[in-house]
Amino acid sequence: MPKLTLGIETSCDETSVAVLTEDRRILSNLISSQTDLHAKFGGVVPEIAARRHVEAITPMVYSALEEAGCSFADIGLVAVTNRPGLIGALLVGVAAAKGIALARGLPLVGVHHLEAHIYANFINNQEASANKQAPTESQNFLPEPEFPLVALIVSGGHTDLVLMTDHGKYQVLGRTRDDAAGEAFDKSARAMNLGYPGGPIIDRLARSGDPTRFPFPRANLGDSLDFSFSGLKTALLLFLKRENPSEEDMPDVAASFQEAVVDPLVANTMLAAERTGVRRVLLAGGVAANSRLREKMLLEANKRGVQVSWPLPSLCTDNAAMIACAGAYRFALHGEDGLGLETFASEPLGS
Ligand code: KG4
Ligand code: ZN
Repeated sequence: MPKLTLGIETSCDETSVAVLTEDRRILSNLISSQTDLHAKFGGVVPEIAARRHVEAITPMVYSALEEAGCSFADIGLVAVTNRPGLIGALLVGVAAAKGIALARGLPLVGVHHLEAHIYANFINNQEASANKQAPTESQNFLPEPEFPLVALIVSGGHTDLVLMTDHGKYQVLGRTRDDAAGEAFDKSARAMNLGYPGGPIIDRLARSGDPTRFPFPRANLGDSLDFSFSGLKTALLLFLKRENPSEEDMPDVAASFQEAVVDPLVANTMLAAERTGVRRVLLAGGVAANSRLREKMLLEANKRGVQVSWPLPSLCTDNAAMIACAGAYRFALHGEDGLGLETFASEPLGS
């Protein structure tokens, strides 16, 4: 058997362990979500997250190997998220990865979580074809990384628009000045009493709603490719207080709110492609699972002859297969980080 990569992800509220082949095929990708534990608090509680990772990580490593039909002897590389994220949560995954690397004499690489979200696009055995998941038919998913490309990374903690010129080479073109897109979804869903995490709930509810009924504001940041969602969040809060919408109105509220998040994401991504002359766009991160974002991005990209792709929804949100994928590329490029690997709560992509 060729050597496999063991991936470990514990940066937030998902414990995940994956085994990936040399040609980036998933043999296993176990994800244990802590959503239920945090739901009553309306967001992730760092201390609870770290404790749950401690309980989950060791059995999950063994289960991931078992599901992959392999043993530690088949593993050739250990890849773990070491930045950015909740520090206590990150430390659990990094400690587990170091233990395995030390015990088995394996190379260890640390992976940037946002970089891994981009690399979710390069996992081989996913049916992440734009053709299969979007209303207009024109593009095919490209499993082989080709550069340059523009990546829109939209997650619970980040909203970054990045020019990627090669493996590991990033230039940030724009980012949020306040809330991340996923954070805007989550906080607004809480204000609407819809539950947590808010993104998938609003996405579902909005499908039967009218996105033009309530004109929520889009931040005007002039020439910049940055984003801002805090004004939108405040506008929604004021609207809910003032109008007290009925249950029947909620699909329209959700759809109108979602449209106000999606519009600037699509506009800035298209502008970034135009300014850089890049013809390839990737979506990454949990919010990349949003059906309206995919639909509108594909529509606008088609008009401009720009290719757009995204991972399967299950590979958009946090998972260890993307960590293994990014880690394998990083190892090929830079070699191992070794047991001195450090952990960082924050580190911008490309720094
Ligand atoms: O990438 P991710 O799993 O974790 C972080 O790295 O933050 O992203 C989680 C975020 C949450 O804010 C969640 O509400 C959002 O992704 N999300 C969505 C959808 N699915 C997940 N947002 C909008 N529409 C969705 N379908
Ligand atoms: Zn993430």
